[in-house]
Amino acid sequence: MKKIVVLGSINVDIILNIARLPLPGETMAMHDRSTAGGGKGANQAIAAVRAGAETSFIAKIGQDRSADFMLDTFKFDGLNIDHVTQDDKAGTGQAYILLDDNGQNSILIYGGANQTITTEDIRNAKDAIADADCLITEFETPLEASTEAFRIAKENNVLTILNPAPAKTYIPDELLKLTDIIVPNETEAEAITGVKVTDQPSMVEAANKMHTMGVKNVIITVGANGAFYSVNGKNGFVNAYKVNTVDTTAAGDTFIGYLASKLNQDLDNIEEAMKFASKASSITVQTQGAQNSIPHLRDVEI
Ligand code: RIB
Repeated sequence: MKKIVVLGSINVDIILNIARLPLPGETMAMHDRSTAGGGKGANQAIAAVRAGAETSFIAKIGQDRSADFMLDTFKFDGLNIDHVTQDDKAGTGQAYILLDDNGQNSILIYGGANQTITTEDIRNAKDAIADADCLITEFETPLEASTEAFRIAKENNVLTILNPAPAKTYIPDELLKLTDIIVPNETEAEAITGVKVTDQPSMVEAANKMHTMGVKNVIITVGANGAFYSVNGKNGFVNAYKVNTVDTTAAGDTFIGYLASKLNQDLDNIEEAMKFASKASSITVQTQGAQNSIPHLRDVEI
């Protein structure tokens, strides 16, 4: 069984269902609103554990009712939360998700406790990282913490996967060089490289720029179109499954958690792992919400 560690965020998602995004200064009625478990890190960890990997989560949460709700969810899923600690000042992270009638979303984040993770928290989880096959992180937690986690991972030959989301135009060189696979979407790839990703030639160009920056392997996800890879010196494209999309929230997180659970250490099964990850995320997009929509292995393997 694969051992995966995820360092990342925990958010309570407040989903606001609207016909379309409001214009500046406009007041609009919503169709509905609801609450669900979210946060890129938590979604990725839940995807990995539901894919069948032994998964540990490094994260920070508040000491509020949202924290109780989220911790109960993690325990129910069998996630190892020995390194999920509670901050006594900052509240649990929150995300306000504007979800339109076409299933597209815009997200506003209150970082809260996610932003209080320190390099000391990471060093406290050193043994878990060193014992893993793969470490995943993203950008809803501090960069210094991600870099420290990747340092420990690489000292111990652990595969590192960086999901550079939300988009950042600057990523420290050291973090890029410690990254085995970077997995941006088209917006994040453009923020990193300046290349507008619209077709396969532009994907190749963006991937080559990321290689020049020091990243060994690149996967660019392009939503309903699929995902491009430039891995071990080979390029290719995996099409997405055609499904009826209700909500794209957590589709990328599902892809990454499932990908990590399937990928061999030498990445020689990249296409197989990407197809598997793509199937899992095609299930996620068919239900509204983040963690509640992430499938279990039994639903992906049929
Ligand atoms: O990637 C989706 C996630 O982004 C949501 O669950 C929300 O919490 C934001 O972090």
